[in-house]
Amino acid sequence: MINVAIDGPAGAGKSSIARKVANKLGYIYVDTGALYRTVALKVAKSSLTADKVAEIEELLGVTEVGIAFVDGEQRMMLDGADVTDSIRTPEVSMLASAVSAIPAVRAYLLNTQRRLAAENNVIMDGRDIGTVVLPDAQIKIFLTASAEDRAQRRFDELIAKGMDVNYDDVLSDIKTRDYNDSHRAVAPLKPAPDSVLADTTGNEFEQSVALIESIITEKLREVK
Ligand code: DC
Repeated sequence: MINVAIDGPAGAGKSSIARKVANKLGYIYVDTGALYRTVALKVAKSSLTADKVAEIEELLGVTEVGIAFVDGEQRMMLDGADVTDSIRTPEVSMLASAVSAIPAVRAYLLNTQRRLAAENNVIMDGRDIGTVVLPDAQIKIFLTASAEDRAQRRFDELIAKGMDVNYDDVLSDIKTRDYNDSHRAVAPLKPAPDSVLADTTGNEFEQSVALIESIITEKLREVK
């Protein structure tokens, strides 16, 4: 199986770029952030905060996170219910960043990610895919852009969904999540030593798609 790992900070455009490229290549696109978001939603529904580590560890024993692909689109299931749409709020984003620092949460989600990559050609995006989840991935990309660019994209997405947000709040959330994600003790966000760096600052979407596609096709030639 061919495994492509794409890691990078929040809002770098990983998911929309990876989804498009996976479509073109006929690979499955796996958004691992959605797994952490689904756990975060369960934590929120249980009226817990991220500092309640022992309670969250116990909660994992009665939590079923499922992932399904419907017409190639990833759907997230929580205890049998489809939660794909409810995991995209700013509150769940921030809670996902906090609960993802809990080692038991990361361990709980590890097998699901590895199984998907073992059984399919995948482009998998996240924070620790090239470093921890799939250290043997044939292709690793670290995708980034300036915090301001990333905040602008997130802001545009949230506004398009009809959410009432302001740019400065989105930028400050992005910076907080960058800090949390790259400073946690377990599996922090950092480029794998054998990754290719892709900076999309100032790019149009299609330029970034072309950049990632060219990195992958070039690497595929070396692999085959
Ligand atoms: O990619 P995202 O914004 O949907 O991810 C939500 C949070 O989940 C992110 O702030 C950090 C965490 N995460 C992680 O720790 N490891 C991953 N592989 C993916 C996401």
